[in-house]
Amino acid sequence: MNHKTKKNTLIIVFITILIFSINFKTLSKNQIETKMIFQENFKREQTILLEKGYTVFEINQIYEYMSKKNIDKILENEYVDLKEFFGITNFDFEKIDSYKAYQSIENIPMKDAVTKVNLKLDVPFYSETIEITNPDSLLVLVNKVYVLNENYKPENLLPIPSFPNLQLRKEAIEDFEKLLAQAKLDNIFLIPYSTYRSFSYQKQVYEKYLEKDPKELVDTYSARPGHSEHQTGLAIDIRSKDHWYNLTKSDYEWMKQNAYKYGFIIRYSKNNSNFTGYKEEPWHIRYVGIEHAKKITDLKLTFDEYYDLYINIH
Ligand code: DAL
Ligand code: ZN
Repeated sequence: MNHKTKKNTLIIVFITILIFSINFKTLSKNQIETKMIFQENFKREQTILLEKGYTVFEINQIYEYMSKKNIDKILENEYVDLKEFFGITNFDFEKIDSYKAYQSIENIPMKDAVTKVNLKLDVPFYSETIEITNPDSLLVLVNKVYVLNENYKPENLLPIPSFPNLQLRKEAIEDFEKLLAQAKLDNIFLIPYSTYRSFSYQKQVYEKYLEKDPKELVDTYSARPGHSEHQTGLAIDIRSKDHWYNLTKSDYEWMKQNAYKYGFIIRYSKNNSNFTGYKEEPWHIRYVGIEHAKKITDLKLTFDEYYDLYINIH
């Protein structure tokens, strides 16, 4: 250990002892023992990191931002410059080379490179797919990577009371009726026209489009079978009264301001196609529940990003 490293170690040890000794007064014997073990480990890890060449600033950032899994990996490996990853909460140490390579090719912010690599959106759409293991979750991610099994059908589909020939998952129905009722009070008359679609129905829809448009174009507005949120029973295509399969500009504005209050998000917004692979779809809303819909809307994230940042914790 050189002189500077020794000095840094002493500073860290001093601060750590100070913090822990303040807490000790109110703890039981068992708690004190656990804390002491924790403190010993903490000191040991910090010494290892200093020896590897990390500065006190870097060590502080590592403990502030990195998961336990990442810290373990950092401890096992030689020094790596992690500065550009501090603050990126979905960072995964094992993917560091892919993040750097993808960021330099695409010239995008590192936080976007991290999310895209994590979600396998760094490779062409549909080139790598992953079968969905939590299809019944209200927070299931269905996109051009995550695919539903062709036999998957939600168990609790029910007709929408005010539009009984359309079916939704039970959990979404009450909030959807509330959304329609509030819209009506605001003089906005909304009509759902496509909700649950089976795998085989989506296949027919997609293939029908292929008869008129080339595949690259169809892929910008229609999901391949298994890749449509409509198969979850949580997505709704909705139009304005007297309007052709879309919302009027003002009704879309209303939806942007209000959908989250009823647990819905606008799933394919403007300028999100780099994450979703779809053009803007004002008519397509997706149920995720009120708490998450509010967060997603406030944070202005695509559901794909939100899923990687807040749901699928690394
Ligand atoms: N139009 C949307 C992307 C779907 O087909 O599910
Ligand atoms: Zn749709």
